[in-house]
Amino acid sequence: MNKNLKLGVFGFGCVGQGLYQVLNNTKGIKAEIVKICVKDKNKSRNVDLGLFTFDKDELLNNPDINVIVELIDDADAAYEIVKAALISGKAVVTANKKMVAEHLEELYELQIKYNTPLLYEASSCASIPIIRNLEEYYDNDLLTKVEGIFNGSSNYILSQIFNKNQSFNASLLEAQKLGFAESDPYLDISGLDSKFKLTIILAHTFGLFVKPEEFFQIGIENINEYDIKFAREKGCKIKLNAFCYKSENDEINAGVLPSFIAKDNPIYNVDDEYNGVLIQSIFSENQFFVGKGAGGLPTGSAVLSDISALTYDYKYEYKKLNQKENLILSNDFKMKIYLRYLIDKSEANKKSYDDLFIEIKETYQNSDYGYIIGEINYNQLVTNYVLNNKSNFIATI
Ligand SMILES: NC(=O)c1ccc[n+]([C@@H]2O[C@H](COP(=O)([O-])OP(=O)(O)OC[C@H]3O[C@@H](n4cnc5c(N)ncnc54)[C@H](OP(=O)(O)O)[C@@H]3O)[C@@H](O)[C@H]2O)c1
Repeated sequence: MNKNLKLGVFGFGCVGQGLYQVLNNTKGIKAEIVKICVKDKNKSRNVDLGLFTFDKDELLNNPDINVIVELIDDADAAYEIVKAALISGKAVVTANKKMVAEHLEELYELQIKYNTPLLYEASSCASIPIIRNLEEYYDNDLLTKVEGIFNGSSNYILSQIFNKNQSFNASLLEAQKLGFAESDPYLDISGLDSKFKLTIILAHTFGLFVKPEEFFQIGIENINEYDIKFAREKGCKIKLNAFCYKSENDEINAGVLPSFIAKDNPIYNVDDEYNGVLIQSIFSENQFFVGKGAGGLPTGSAVLSDISALTYDYKYEYKKLNQKENLILSNDFKMKIYLRYLIDKSEANKKSYDDLFIEIKETYQNSDYGYIIGEINYNQLVTNYVLNNKSNFIATI
């Protein structure tokens, strides 16, 4: 690729402005923003207005622009933009995990067909260089597990709750004000955002293209004071944990669930908007990465790193896919969980909770609430009605 990169940037929100600042404060990279496409004609902009347009074709059809940087908050529009850019031979950098996760296999094929690179380091754990490490550093090591905190906004909320006794709603508002939350914060607190990232990480860890709906997530939205009290009594914090690992029968198990994390787990001290990723492999054993998982500048810096990688013609080779281990994803595995329910559920309902478990280890009930700790089959969790009950909280323990 031409070493002088001419950028067409879509989006000038939290990440777009972060990239603008990072780019202006970085020496040595030959990349220049030619045009920025945004949506809202009435919004005031804090940089040269001549840079802006509202017409996507001014970027996509501009022969001077050789790199499209996609930083918008609309996954469907982003997909159309990225697809058109790849087909027209423009390299693409994106931070959009929802868009990448939902279309990864097709985007992989488009890269091959049109011989144009698509880089998306910022889409997974923002400033932590996880994708490129999985691709390059761990290209031949036998990876067995990747897990951790993949969402800065929900981690910020949980940290405020555990470290500052702040309420869920006040913490969410703060996360939104600080630019850590997605435009639709449901994506953060429901675990969906972590699941999109895990979908991408599955491809680069185990060579698996799966759709986000093929595995399971539970978010933090139902957490209440009983769960926080229980965690504190056990010397734990609750974190939203995303995991994928190779089982004993060589199947891949994956999911996103709240988790009771004890002090001796490195994830325990990953607070605020930070993310933490534990990588386990047969030879290098455990390695732990920590870094900011949200915010304009940290995410902008990951976008810049991808732009920089294009100057030396870097592209993902999808090495695990090409190693053809042909692994499959399975939801048929055992897991130990804590299920907390409110007592206005009838005794009959509680009985059916019992039926969910293969083995019950501990139960508690008072006049307000109860909990059951025990082993279940993950598939049960995926299909059972219990999850539709808005007052229950489920976490791995
Ligand atoms: N925020 C983070 O910490 C973070 C971290 C990692 C990844 N990401 C990802 O980065 C992307 C951007 O997030 P953000 O936080 O920067 O969002 P944001 O602050 O809400 O900004 C979104 C930008 O997209 C523009 N936009 C929306 N639809 C458009 C369209 N159809 N055409 C052109 N422009 C359009 C908006 O234009 P107007 O300015 O005209 O409204 C705005 O500038 C998302 O995919 C997000 O998941 C964000």
